[in-house]
Order: sequence, then structure tokens, then C-alpha cells
Amino acid sequence: MSEFVVKSNQGPEFECGGDVSILDAAVKNGYIFEYSCKTGQCGVCKTFLLEGEVIELQAQVALTDSQKESNQILTCCCAPKTNVLINAEDLSALHGIETKTLPARINTIKKHTADIIEVTLRLPPTANFKFLEGQYLDVIQNSIRRSYSIASTSSQKEITLLIKRFENGKMSDYWFNHAKENDLLRIEGPKGTFFLRDDLKPLLFLATGTGIAPIMSILNILDENPDYQQQHSITVYWGNRYPEEFVWQPKFENLNVDFIQVCSKPDQSWTGEVGYVQDIAMQKQPDVEKCAIYACGSNAMIQAAKQLLTERSLPEKQFYSDAFVQSY
Ligand SMILES: Cc1cc2nc3c(=O)[nH]c(=O)nc-3n(C[C@H](O)[C@H](O)[C@H](O)COP(=O)(O)OP(=O)(O)OC[C@H]3O[C@@H](n4cnc5c(N)ncnc54)[C@H](O)[C@@H]3O)c2cc1C
Ligand code: FES
Repeated sequence: MSEFVVKSNQGPEFECGGDVSILDAAVKNGYIFEYSCKTGQCGVCKTFLLEGEVIELQAQVALTDSQKESNQILTCCCAPKTNVLINAEDLSALHGIETKTLPARINTIKKHTADIIEVTLRLPPTANFKFLEGQYLDVIQNSIRRSYSIASTSSQKEITLLIKRFENGKMSDYWFNHAKENDLLRIEGPKGTFFLRDDLKPLLFLATGTGIAPIMSILNILDENPDYQQQHSITVYWGNRYPEEFVWQPKFENLNVDFIQVCSKPDQSWTGEVGYVQDIAMQKQPDVEKCAIYACGSNAMIQAAKQLLTERSLPEKQFYSDAFVQSY
């Protein structure tokens, strides 16, 4: 089977062949490029193909025709057909963070609403499960595998997940109708590259629904960090359809966070913002283009926010996202 050289103009160089994606080959060779869904839907692994040719292993759904014409590719979907030169950064902050498959038992299940639960998982004492706040893991139950962001911090003993019910969802059926304390599951993780990169700018977080989970984790670890000196504003816009879905109230010891709740289907008692997070953030947030943006939750919100922010001259490199697209 032919092996080709994949080289990035940002340093990494490795071999890749057969039906292995550029993204997977990078990981095999000790490099970590940006990624989230690994299924071609979110666009996080997008990069420029500067030289050479690739073949599509799976459809590059997140790319528009004009992006394809301008030689952009998704590294999770493509394998090299010749030697290639790409433009992808190796995220050294994730070096040493190893993806593992581990047994996990359900410790607690807390029902926040009929459609939102908080699950804590306990891992074997020897697991040594390390992750960066913001990353996700896969839960495997009876051969069904779904991704969930970690809402807890690495300083906590248990892993916390915030899970929303999907109508007729296979894993939702397990979580909401069958799961009980002490059930044995498997997890695979940590995964993804959604973590805090740049705290030298004002931080703007956008979340919908359970997309608040990795943001809880990122903010809580910042709050716990005695070396972190907050220099800039931190603002969170969290959107939900109904008022009862705001199941987390932040309590920080040290951080000063402007926390704005946005409801799209409020009742008469609602006193917060009404509408969609991306629209409210554009109206209320001064100088969005100077912020580092972290968006998580529905792909529709993320794509709309990205479009609006690009129109406001936000450099694409200041926008980080984790789209809760269908896992598999
Ligand atoms: C990186 C990542 C992180 C995630 N983190 C979380 C998290 O922290 N909390 C959480 O609640 N969910 C999260 N998700 C979504 C989760 O992995 C599942 O996709 C979701 O829970 C539905 O699984 P299910 O088996 O219940 O539904 P399925 O059986 O997969 O699907 C049931 C129906 O719902 C539709 N559907 C499924 N998933 C989605 C989706 N995401 N968007 C729109 N339609 C969908 C399907 O098309 C189908 O019609 C994450 C997804 C990704 C990719
Ligand atoms: S499109 Fe490649 S990681 Fe999501």
C-alpha cells in the first residue's frame, strides 16, 4: 500500500497511506491537529491543501463549493493521493494527553428536567484519566457510541456529563429510561481540541443547551487556578428554548463573569434576554472582533455566529467551536 508524505508548513511531517485520514495519521505520529466531530460535519479540522492531491474517505459536508474550489480540505475526511503540503498547526498543549478506553460506572443520575440529566461517572482508581477542560469523551453502551462533553474539571474525582434527550434517540432511550446507578459503561477519551487557548484577549463564550457543559469545565478550572490573573472581560451568553432549561447557576470565587441567559421561548415571568444567543451577543457585546470566541452546542448557532462574526471582521483563528452534531 502506498505511503505518502504529509507535510505542514507549520512544522509537522509524517507518512500516511491506505484509507487512513490525514487527521488520524497525524495522531499516530504524535501530532494533534484541530478536530471535533471527525465525521465531516463541523468543519473544525478545515485546512488549506497547498500542494498535492487528496481523496475523500467520507463526504466533506461542512465545506461549501467555494471552499472546495479554494483548495480547502477537512483532514478528518481526506487521505493523500500524492505527497501533500497542508497548513495545519500541531496543538502541543495536548501532547501527553492520551486517548484511552476505560470502564466507567454510573455514580449518580440527577434529573434536572424531563429532558436534561446530569450524570456522574466513576473511573477505576488506576485510570489516570487526563484531559484538558473543554474536551469530550465517547460513552459506549451496548455497542452504541455517543459523544459527550466533560462538564467537570480535571481536579475532580468523577466525570460529570450534562445530557439532553433526543426524541427517538437510541442513547437517549438508555439514559432516560434504563440507566441506573452502578451501571457499567465504557468511555473512550478525551477527544477534541476545544480548550482555552488564548486568555490574553477578552473571552466570549456562546452556548446553546447542554453546550454549556465544556464551558462550565473551562470556567471552573480558571476559577480554581491560583496563577490565573483575570486581565480581560469574560462573558457567557447561554441560550435555551425554555426557562427551566437553565440548569446551571455559576458560582465563582475569583472570576468576574458576565453571565447572560437568552431564552427563545420565554414565559411571562422571564426577565432575561429573549432571542438567539448569537444575535443577542452581536447586539450587546462591544468589540466582538477583539475577543477570543468559544462557541459550543447546536451547529446552527455555531455556523450563524461564525458568519455574523466574520462579517464583523473577526479573524477566523479567534473562533473556536465544538458542534454537537449527530455523533455517528
Ligand atoms: C463532540 C460532541 C460533543 C457532544 N456533547 C454532548 C453533550 O455534552 N451533551 C449532550 O446532550 N449531547 C452531546 N452531543 C450529542 C450526542 O453525542 C448525541 O448525538 C445526542 O445525544 C443524540 O444521541 P441519541 O443516541 O439519543 O440520538 P440518535 O439515535 O443518534 O438520533 C435520534 C434522532 O435525533 C437526531 N439527532 C441525533 N443527534 C443529533 C444532534 N446532535 N443534532 C441534531 N439532531 C440529532 C437524529 O438524526 C435522529 O433523528 C455531542 C456530540 C458531539 C459530536
Ligand atoms: S469536520 Fe473534521 S472534525 Fe468535524
